[in-house]
Amino acid sequence: MIKPLRKAVLPVGGLGTRFLPATKAMPKEMLPVVDKPLIQYAIDEARAAGIEEFCLVTARGKDNLIDYFDAAPELEKTLQDRGKTSTLAALEASAISAGSMVAVRQNMPLGLGHAIWCARSFIGNDPFAILLPDDIVKSDRSCIGQLADIYHQTGGNVVAVNEVPQHLTNQYGILETGKDDGKLVEVKGLVEKPAPADAPSNLSIIGRYVLTADVLEPLSQLKTGVGGEVQLTDAMAQLIGKQPFHGLRYEGTRFDCGSKVGFLEAQIAMSIERSDLGDDVRAFLKKYI
Ligand code: UTP
Repeated sequence: MIKPLRKAVLPVGGLGTRFLPATKAMPKEMLPVVDKPLIQYAIDEARAAGIEEFCLVTARGKDNLIDYFDAAPELEKTLQDRGKTSTLAALEASAISAGSMVAVRQNMPLGLGHAIWCARSFIGNDPFAILLPDDIVKSDRSCIGQLADIYHQTGGNVVAVNEVPQHLTNQYGILETGKDDGKLVEVKGLVEKPAPADAPSNLSIIGRYVLTADVLEPLSQLKTGVGGEVQLTDAMAQLIGKQPFHGLRYEGTRFDCGSKVGFLEAQIAMSIERSDLGDDVRAFLKKYI
C-alpha cells in the first residue's frame, strides 16, 4: 500500500551569502516577495497539496523564522480593534496550527543532504516532500501537489525538473534520462553539477522533491561530494533501480529567489498580477525601461 504524503521538510540552514549584507542578521527565507516572506510561499504551496506537518531545518541566527509562525495575539487584537480586517485575515492565513511545525538545528552548514538527514526523526519511515524556499513556483496547481500526484500513482520518488542551457549544467543536479513522455521522465541516473561536456542531459532538478524515507540510509553515511558538501543528489542516486524514480516537467513558472535576478523577477511577476498593485507596477516599469 502506498503511504499518503503528509510531511514536508524545509531546509533553511544555508548561509545565504548571495544576499549579503541583507542576510547578515536576517534569514534569506524571511526576505519578502511583495508582502510575504519566501518561507510563506513554500508553506502555502505545501498546504495546497494537503501537507500539514512541517519540519524546518534551521541554523544559528534563524530563530525569527520560528517566531514568524507563532501566534501574535497583541497584534491581532490591535488590528481587530482598528477594524483592519483584510490585514488580520492575511495574518491569520500565515499561522500554523499548534504542534504541526517542528524545527531542528543543522549545527553546521554541511550541505543540503546533511540538512535533510538532520530531519530524520521527523521523517521516520514516511514519504516526505522537500521544498527549498528559495524557489517560488507560480502555478495553477501547487507544484509539490503535482509531484504528490505522481508519488501517489507510483509509490516512488519524484523530483521537479526543468530544461537549463547546456553551459549551465555545472550549477544544478542533472538527470540521466530513460523513458520520456514529454512530461514524466524516468530517472536512470543523477549527477550533481556536472561540467557541460559531461552532463548526461540538460534536465535539472529544481527545489521540489517527494522522496521515500529510504533516502535516509545513504544520507546517514554523510559522504561528501561536489564542493565538499553532503549532496542530496548523491543519496537519491542510490535509490535508482531499487524503486520508482521520476522527473516531472511541472506546469508553472519557477523563480530562483536565491539569485538576485530571480528574486527581482519574482517581485515583478507576483506584483503585476495583483489588483491592488498591478497598474502602478506597469506604470513604473514603463518609466524605467
Ligand atoms: P543554497 O545552495 O542556495 O545555499 O542552498 P545558501 O547558503 O542558502 O545560499 P548562498 O548560495 O550562500 O547564497 C539551497 C537550499 O539548501 C539549504 C538552504 O537553506 C537553501 O534552502 N541548505 C543548504 C541547508 O539547509 N543547509 C546547508 O548546509 C546548505
